[in-house]
Amino acid sequence: MRRSSFFIVSLMVCLFQISKSGAHDNAKNGFESHRRSISVTSFGAVGDGKTDDTKAFLKAWEGVCNGGSKRNKRLLVPLGKTFMIKPLTFVGPCKSSSISFLIKGNLVAPGYTWYAGRYPSWISFDSINGLVVTGGGTIDGRGSVWWGNVQHRPTAMHFNNCNGLRMSNLRHLNSPRNHVGLSCSENIKVSGLKMNAPGDSPNTDGIDISNCRGVEIRDSVIATGDDCIAINSGSSFINITGIFCGPGHGISIGSLGENGYFATVEEVRVKNCTLRNTTNGVRIKTYENGSGYARKISFEDINMIASENPIIIEQNYHDWGKNGEVSFEDSNYQSCHFNHLYKTQSSGNGRGVKVSNVRYTRILGSSASDKAITLNCDADLGCVDIVMDHVNMVSATSGREVSASCKNVRGIYFNSMVSCLKKH
Ligand SMILES: *[C@@H]1O[C@H](CO)[C@@H](O)[C@H](O)[C@H]1NC(C)=O
Ligand SMILES: *[C@@H]1O[C@H](CO)[C@@H](O)[C@H](O)[C@H]1NC(C)=O
Ligand SMILES: *[C@@H]1O[C@H](CO)[C@@H](O)[C@H](O)[C@H]1NC(C)=O
Ligand SMILES: *[C@@H]1O[C@H](CO)[C@@H](O)[C@H](O)[C@H]1NC(C)=O
Repeated sequence: MRRSSFFIVSLMVCLFQISKSGAHDNAKNGFESHRRSISVTSFGAVGDGKTDDTKAFLKAWEGVCNGGSKRNKRLLVPLGKTFMIKPLTFVGPCKSSSISFLIKGNLVAPGYTWYAGRYPSWISFDSINGLVVTGGGTIDGRGSVWWGNVQHRPTAMHFNNCNGLRMSNLRHLNSPRNHVGLSCSENIKVSGLKMNAPGDSPNTDGIDISNCRGVEIRDSVIATGDDCIAINSGSSFINITGIFCGPGHGISIGSLGENGYFATVEEVRVKNCTLRNTTNGVRIKTYENGSGYARKISFEDINMIASENPIIIEQNYHDWGKNGEVSFEDSNYQSCHFNHLYKTQSSGNGRGVKVSNVRYTRILGSSASDKAITLNCDADLGCVDIVMDHVNMVSATSGREVSASCKNVRGIYFNSMVSCLKKH
């Protein structure tokens, strides 16, 4: 008797909790759908593509981020207008736990260069939690004025310390350097981006990730002059899926360990991507003098279409392409509380970055060069625990054969053309 009434009471409490949370969700959704947007034009932005709208954008941000009413959480860049803004930083933390930046119109950079040592990014977002950037608009870095001969070139859009960032449905054009940088943040989801810059534009990476944990990048098309996606030191739990890449340099882990830095990357999954006409496919590159590791990495269901070096590990990378640029690790604004290992510099006595537990599964398609696979590992460290399963590529040129080359690699292969690992 007692026992059954206990159950009835528990059941009622339980039902009450369920209905309470349902009501709460409904109220929240209703509230969300009635939120107002604040347009940058109500802060004096002109949007004729020529007027400097920087101040108006900063004032509008101030209103949304620190404004009295918690309801004004959406900043709108209206459709049909083009706003010219100079380098600026949208700074948090904000009062609201979530802020939307709705870019429906166009943002353009000034059509001239500035000293990018001081402003390493054109548009920066710093220390904003729960930021949503979306809207279908275009972000045009007007990079061509920079590409010729300017030594320090800015990233177009950088997010630092923005936990919970959601970025989607935007078009990025012609950044002076990287199109989007993500640093020092946790829990990021990016989708539906389109990025375009000429295949020969210098260092115009699509998305650069450093010191981030828990990042998902999916369903995007990236066609630029450097890495489509680069995963740099301090990054872990990174998922990349549904990316179409090319032209470009492919999807890269690293370079890691430049200038003897202690560098780490782990738990990376790259899945269901197509790489067309890229200089590399999936690449891991580490500097000979660095230390640290790249491990627990998988590349799965990758379709190569005439990639130059479809699968490549270089464990003794040198400074070839550096071109006088400040490295990601060098620039102070990257300093990150999030990862204490980040700043540890082993003053040039690093003996290399360990590469282990890398899995390639179903890598198919064609190679533009005769070397479909190059695993070039260090004689002392080696690359260990490398697995290839269904790795089968043909030459993009009919009648030619492709081959694999492995130096100092320990691993196994299944059902694959590669001959330099041990057959399982
Ligand atoms: C590959 O990309 C380069 C550089 O953008 C371009 O010039 C070339 O036409 C492309 N080739 C193919 C086959 O798409
Ligand atoms: C990455 O994918 C795995 C497997 O689907 C999933 O368990 C994990 O939560 C994902 N991580 C992120 C950051 O999306
Ligand atoms: C792979 O990615 C493409 C491009 O985003 C997407 O259309 C497709 O549904 C994905 N396939 C799987 C099996 O996830
Ligand atoms: C790496 O170490 C070698 C040998 O100690 C040294 O000659 C070289 O300058 C170092 N390179 C870098 C980039 O620190």
